[in-house]
Amino acid sequence: MKRFLKIILYALLFAGILIAAAAAYFYFKGVPTYPYDIPQDVASLQVKPDSMRIARGAKIATLLCNECHRGEDGKLTGRFMPDIPSELAPAYSLNITQDQTHGIGNWSDGEIYYFLRTGIRKDGSWAPPFMPKFPLMADEDLYAVIAWLRSNDPALAADAREFPPNKWNLLVKFLANVAIFPPAYPEKTITIPDTTDQVAFGKYVADGLCACYGCHSADFTKQDPIHPEKSLGFYGGGNPMLNYEGELVPSANITMDKETGIGNWSEQAFIDAVKFCKNPRGGLLKYPMFPHTTLSDQEVKAIWAYLKTVPTIKNERK
Ligand code: HEC
Ligand code: HEC
Repeated sequence: MKRFLKIILYALLFAGILIAAAAAYFYFKGVPTYPYDIPQDVASLQVKPDSMRIARGAKIATLLCNECHRGEDGKLTGRFMPDIPSELAPAYSLNITQDQTHGIGNWSDGEIYYFLRTGIRKDGSWAPPFMPKFPLMADEDLYAVIAWLRSNDPALAADAREFPPNKWNLLVKFLANVAIFPPAYPEKTITIPDTTDQVAFGKYVADGLCACYGCHSADFTKQDPIHPEKSLGFYGGGNPMLNYEGELVPSANITMDKETGIGNWSEQAFIDAVKFCKNPRGGLLKYPMFPHTTLSDQEVKAIWAYLKTVPTIKNERK
């Protein structure tokens, strides 16, 4: 019996040492860096900043960038991100104004393009998951964002305020080494589907542009950013998220399941929910759902048509 206990004790000790060694390894290794494999045509990219692009870029930024990068006075100097779970945080979004040193004023169009696709910077450093990546966004929409970043929008005027670089904790470092990686770089140019093909267009707006599935699936770490439909619980919701007060708000099931999803909703209720966060049961939908006011009715109707083609999932919200 004594000998048996001894063996168990040694086994536990050994396991403990292994865990400590693994922890030390990830702690010192940090978030991995990646080779900067920027394609030639992207490296030399120069986006023509015409007014159509700037307007489209501003619209996309309202949906996809400003909420995270806006400081208290509305300038895009970055902010503390209170809604990241405390095990993963603290995290700050960074200054993306045109300041040459503190913002991204000295990044080339190609560097911005490559970063938005992959999260990889020129020095090979990688932005962990709190900065989303856009591997399925159409090239034209990325050009629009870049044109807007260069525009005279007052929110982007050079501003030297800056948060210190993020210091990621052990859990983020661990996840960035074993679970979450830069998405594969697209092999071909991505075009915006024709609006006459409502389902394909809706799929682009939902999966490619807005990544609605990101929040509306089961788990951030079990997603496939290149083939979103392979993500665990695709549009079935349940992903646990935090609001600004740190309360848990699981995302909703937005498949067409009649009992646990939105299969009994009208198209108009859907438009009001997506554009203005109107909750058909009364009141407003909670953050992190946010009003997508700059999506057109046509775009939201296309998402609705697309969601009708997504396999339903039974998933009651807890
Ligand atoms: C969910 C929050 C969030 C959203 C949405 C978001 N970002 Fe970020 N962004 C971050 C965080 C956090 C970082 C810092 C990452 C790091 O420290 O590595 C960051 C970093 C960046 C950087 C790198 C800045 C630098 O100096 O290294 C750029 C450029 C950027 N974001 C642009 C954008 C643009 C453009 C959009 C919209 C298309 C956007 N971000 C949307 C959170 C966000
Ligand atoms: C940042 C995460 C996030 C993103 C991105 C997001 N949602 Fe949501 N959404 C949520 C959360 C969380 C809820 C639940 C809110 C609540 O409980 O009040 C929700 C609720 C909803 C609802 C209401 C469902 C119900 O049963 O009440 C609809 C419809 C919806 N989202 C559609 C969308 C669409 C379409 C997109 C993309 C254009 C989208 N959402 C993007 C997080 C998100």
